[in-house]
Amino acid sequence: MSFDNKVAVVTGGAQGMGREYVRLLAEQGARVVIADINLDVAQKAVDELDFTDQLLAIRTDVGDLESCLACIKAAEERFGGVDFLVNNAGLLSAAAFPSLIDIPVEKYRQIMEVMLNGQLWMARAAVPAMRKRGGGAIVNVSSIGAYQATGVYSLSKLGVNGLTINLSRELAKDNIRVNAVAPGTVATEGMQPLMSVADMAQWGQALGRPTDRVATPDLIAQVGVFLLSDAASYVRGQIIAVDDGQQIRV
Ligand SMILES: NC(=O)c1ccc[n+]([C@@H]2O[C@H](COP(=O)([O-])OP(=O)(O)OC[C@H]3O[C@@H](n4cnc5c(N)ncnc54)[C@H](O)[C@@H]3O)[C@@H](O)[C@H]2O)c1
Repeated sequence: MSFDNKVAVVTGGAQGMGREYVRLLAEQGARVVIADINLDVAQKAVDELDFTDQLLAIRTDVGDLESCLACIKAAEERFGGVDFLVNNAGLLSAAAFPSLIDIPVEKYRQIMEVMLNGQLWMARAAVPAMRKRGGGAIVNVSSIGAYQATGVYSLSKLGVNGLTINLSRELAKDNIRVNAVAPGTVATEGMQPLMSVADMAQWGQALGRPTDRVATPDLIAQVGVFLLSDAASYVRGQIIAVDDGQQIRV
């Protein structure tokens, strides 16, 4: 897999899984925009990773279409275009709202705006840039939590699955492939305040994973990077579970 002369935008790329996408893509030659609401942490990632010249941090709120458009404009200005989008930004804190009946309306809107609509806003911003390059690829980050009916987090990720299959059809004519990864339990900065790694191991097993392995971010990101690459050129509209067999569907 080579991403030489390619440009990728990774939302929520400052930490966690997003940062792994940034590292792997840059390692394989891409220039990468870290589009994150937390500019300080995004800039820290640029400074700490080995590929500083290939990276650009841009403060982006994916829940705001104008901010998404400004991000893509900055990416085009700095790197000359956009080929790939990883729609990774998310709010793990949304898991604290298990009831769709009781969640405050404003909170519900805020979460859906970032977790579901934000992926559409970024796609709307990035697709015209990809068309100028003759095509591209998008990976949306879902979750196997989509299938667990656990409230707004789950609902937003089911929406991401729906967005993925819809966009995969709509954008085929533009030579843009759209797929999703659905991670299982991943030890990230965002998960730390919610659950210890030991609890994650037990929780995943209780939900059906046949091992006690908790994923590190690279185990997920390498599958997403594969989906972006030409090696996956015949993979379109798929939601790929990366969960060590926790969610087995036949
Ligand atoms: N960690 C897990 O176990 C797990 C499992 C399945 C799916 N996921 C999904 O993977 C993605 C990444 O999760 P993570 O664990 O790395 O999270 P994380 O909390 O470690 O990182 C999320 C990043 O998104 C950024 N962000 C938040 N709101 C934003 C906004 N409005 N605009 C732009 N950036 C924003 C944050 O600043 C942060 O850098 C999320 O979509 C999450 O739902 C995580």
